[in-house]
Amino acid sequence: MNTALCTTYLGVPIQNPFILASAPPTATGDMVRRAFEAGWGGAVVKTLIHEPVHNLPNRFAVIRNGGRITGFENLELLSEQSPDQWYQDIATIKADFPHCPIIGSIMGSADSPEQWLSLARGCQDAGADLLELNFSCPHGYPERGRGAAIGQNPDIAARITGWLTNCKEITIPIIPKLTAAVADIRHIAEELAQAGAHGFCAINTIPSFFGFDLHTLRPKPDIGGMTSYGGYSGPGIKPIALRAVSEICQSPGLPVMASGGIASGFDAAEFMLLGAPVVQVGTEVMLRGFGLVDRMQQELREFMGWHGFNTPADFIGRCRKSAISFEKLSGDYDCRPRLLAERCTGCGACYTACRDGGYQAIRWNHSLPEIDQAVCTACSLCSQVCPSGAISME
Ligand SMILES: Cc1cc2nc3c(=O)[nH]c(=O)nc-3n(C[C@H](O)[C@H](O)[C@H](O)COP(=O)(O)O)c2cc1C
Repeated sequence: MNTALCTTYLGVPIQNPFILASAPPTATGDMVRRAFEAGWGGAVVKTLIHEPVHNLPNRFAVIRNGGRITGFENLELLSEQSPDQWYQDIATIKADFPHCPIIGSIMGSADSPEQWLSLARGCQDAGADLLELNFSCPHGYPERGRGAAIGQNPDIAARITGWLTNCKEITIPIIPKLTAAVADIRHIAEELAQAGAHGFCAINTIPSFFGFDLHTLRPKPDIGGMTSYGGYSGPGIKPIALRAVSEICQSPGLPVMASGGIASGFDAAEFMLLGAPVVQVGTEVMLRGFGLVDRMQQELREFMGWHGFNTPADFIGRCRKSAISFEKLSGDYDCRPRLLAERCTGCGACYTACRDGGYQAIRWNHSLPEIDQAVCTACSLCSQVCPSGAISME
């Protein structure tokens, strides 16, 4: 066990904070087993549902930034494995990997306590340590009043949460998985905390449309010439996830398993600073394989080394209060852009940005920018666009 990265979530010890999100890498028991062998701290199984699942072919699309995939869209449904098969798999994997938490993930109809309770009982009896309620899948299910349709309606989500938290037979922690596609995630989390939720997972994929192949004029993903609105994941959604996790960690303050665009140990550190004891990874594992966990652990250790943190407990939640409401930001705060001439390559990016997107405070003087501090409002655009770090805000 790697003591340096040990953490706990709702009393469950975890050997490192990296957990597989409910997604294709946890589609079968064999995959979860291989992930544990590779060193993942835990896994959320692909969401169980009573009805049979048939996935469409060609259900993915990507956005590339240079060679790197920064955005991913899927039109995938829930687990193709039956709940009974999952119960067997969970039991055997738990027997072989008792120190790796397995998190069940379930979805039922909004009007059927039996569906939710039977899936919850099945996962618990098989040995699952925690249970996610999928209130957040953005495609395929909301049309039928499930998934994100539940997460967007606090009354329905609270009612379902209550069915599970008030059932004496269900003793494992109940963790609604929330969607960020709502106006006020904090309000929803507070309602579910009232209904007895023990923690949260945030966020799921975001509703999206990935556009067109401009040569063929066919939409992406291309399902026989048509498409549907899918779920956006990967690095592009990290800021949306950070915001959601930040809000929930501040109120109601229940522990969050963070999910959304986490692709490195450094990304994980940011979510942990907000208060998330563990992070879930989906898309990046689909792109890089289970071995990714080694690099993520190395990066997290590197971050800890910069600050002299010995364990995750030293920094989880340390920056929880960094985000406040806009009116509370200090009106007295001042800073100024400063040019470090020795770093400037004379590319002109700052000049163009300030001229046409800022306040015309930069003059071009013999191949070098010159900042007119009297005109400058210190918006920081010049510093943001500078590719060589030649303008710092001081
Ligand atoms: C192809 C695919 C299938 C997914 N299936 C599920 C699912 O069955 N249940 C669920 O709760 N989330 C599902 N998710 C959402 C992920 O668990 C995760 O919350 C989301 O992708 C954001 O994390 P990421 O950016 O690390 O992928 C799926 C995501 C992808 C990409």
